[in-house]
Amino acid sequence: MMRQPECLEKFIRMCSDGWLQGWHENHGGNLTYRAKKEELYGLELDGGREWIPLEKKLGNLAGDYFLVTGSGKSMRNAQLYPEDALGLIEINDEGSAYRMVWGFADGGKPTSELPAHLMCQSVKKETTDGKYRFVYHAHPANIIALSFVLPLKDEIFTRELWEMEPECAMVFPAGLGVLPWMVPGTEKIAELTCEKMKEYDVVLWAQHGVFAAGDTFDNTFGLMNTVEKGGEILVKVLSMSPVKRQAPSVQDFKDMARVFDLKLPDKFLF
Ligand code: 13P
Ligand code: ZN
Repeated sequence: MMRQPECLEKFIRMCSDGWLQGWHENHGGNLTYRAKKEELYGLELDGGREWIPLEKKLGNLAGDYFLVTGSGKSMRNAQLYPEDALGLIEINDEGSAYRMVWGFADGGKPTSELPAHLMCQSVKKETTDGKYRFVYHAHPANIIALSFVLPLKDEIFTRELWEMEPECAMVFPAGLGVLPWMVPGTEKIAELTCEKMKEYDVVLWAQHGVFAAGDTFDNTFGLMNTVEKGGEILVKVLSMSPVKRQAPSVQDFKDMARVFDLKLPDKFLF
């Protein structure tokens, strides 16, 4: 038997890792990866399935291939049943429709958050000169819990998380965007998320989960992991006391930015 493409193996590993973190109860969360055609060796592509129109034309994704988790499928099953839990889609030459070309067995289909994934993929492809290839959505408990008690403002969430450990400012120096609760899987949540992705790599959906974008499997998973770790520390701090006795100062962040060559926006250094 021919070996699975390496990118599929890494995709499956990320699904399993997210499952083990407890971020994907039931069929929560989803993942897309913009694959290079030459990476897809060994997969038998089926070009006979119907084209499905996209609500919004995404011209810069024309001809692209994406590995995508299936709607209603558990991340836990990605490893055992990849052709059922996942699939590959191809975008048409106009960027106006997609078709499933591998996987999604027995009537499966791509994640219900496909609009948000593809719009974010489009924004990031454009703004990073094609470097970013991943969009990852997860439901990590601590950062979600914080969206019940902190004001839903980019400045507040970013600064609070940055204070929790130096890794946070190093991993998301541009900050974290916050959106209010919205109906999942809609064009509206997709539009607002991709607006935030023009500025940030990570966006919190209040009382729902996190959308993260990145260039590699490790960096994208690491970003989700770091946001949630910061969230976990903050939940512990707030559980002990509503007031912090001490925290890193604005000058501390400026010093760190200088040493590590970070561009930390002034709006978070208040
Ligand atoms: P899917 O099973 O359709 O990917 O939905 C999971 C989810 O997290 C929706 O926000
Ligand atoms: Zn979700």
